[in-house]
Amino acid sequence: METIQSYLDNLINDHTLIERALVMFEKEIAKGEQMNPDIALSLITFLEDYGDECHNQKEEQFYFPLLLERGLPPMGPVAVMLEEHKSERNYLSEIKQMIAKFKINNTFNPQLTETTAEYVELTKNHIWKENDILYPMGKRILSTQDGVDLLHKFEEFTFSRFGQDGYMRYSDMIDAFEHQTGGKVNMLAGLQLDVITNMLDALPVELSFVDENDIVRFYTHQNKKKIFHRSLSVIGRTVQKCHPEKSVHMVNKILAEMKEGSRDKADFWINFDSMFVHISYYAVRDDKGNYQGCVEMVHDIKPYRDLEGEKRLL
Ligand SMILES: [Fe+2]
Ligand SMILES: [Fe+2]
Repeated sequence: METIQSYLDNLINDHTLIERALVMFEKEIAKGEQMNPDIALSLITFLEDYGDECHNQKEEQFYFPLLLERGLPPMGPVAVMLEEHKSERNYLSEIKQMIAKFKINNTFNPQLTETTAEYVELTKNHIWKENDILYPMGKRILSTQDGVDLLHKFEEFTFSRFGQDGYMRYSDMIDAFEHQTGGKVNMLAGLQLDVITNMLDALPVELSFVDENDIVRFYTHQNKKKIFHRSLSVIGRTVQKCHPEKSVHMVNKILAEMKEGSRDKADFWINFDSMFVHISYYAVRDDKGNYQGCVEMVHDIKPYRDLEGEKRLL
């Protein structure tokens, strides 16, 4: 089921797209003389057309003015954000000229590395400030109706500038670039395997994974106490062999529906010893929606059911 987008989802999705372009751009510039100027220039075009002409304009023309109308001081965070948009624009035009020169004379100007680093730093910080400070602040002062109106204005604006499916076109473009440059960021690749294992084991949920052929490949909390007993001998066996006979038809039905795409999730809950155990299954799919397997999450949710009121960090 498609979830309805809010004005904040709309802005934050833009940021994600811009960040993905920044990562690829940084990598391209880091190649120095080996840089492909056409890729770098295309990314600049994206950052100018979508990042500035679309995203920054949605903020400048609709979002920021509404924040001021609802009580943010004119010289406060909005003024800082506007100033940063200006700096982004200046950096981009400077960088664009340097790349264009490189394209003509093939001499790499070390200043390009420096200016790119400054630009990327500024833009990443800007996105962080908006996502983590300004947008939450805005959420507190804008009404539900303000949010609905904003989203409507964003959509109208995008449509008038970029036509139908403007966002999707740019999102497809970033996908294609990532494919071409191998630039897609996999954050897990930067972590040691034992850190990933310990991180998963630190969570009070037990995960296990069966691949697209129903073979059990992985479970967390290997040598730790688990809600349901599991042993290494299940690895490499089909999931049907790990379930009691009477529930196998249900397992098969869920997996078949996930494979054909009619189901993404299944969940169950049972009383088990002194716990209230929630068991859920989620289809794992690649970017194109192809089924890659199923992850199971087992969780004692009794401690959550007992919670009352609120406990806040701040
Ligand atoms: Fe901004
Ligand atoms: Fe923004």
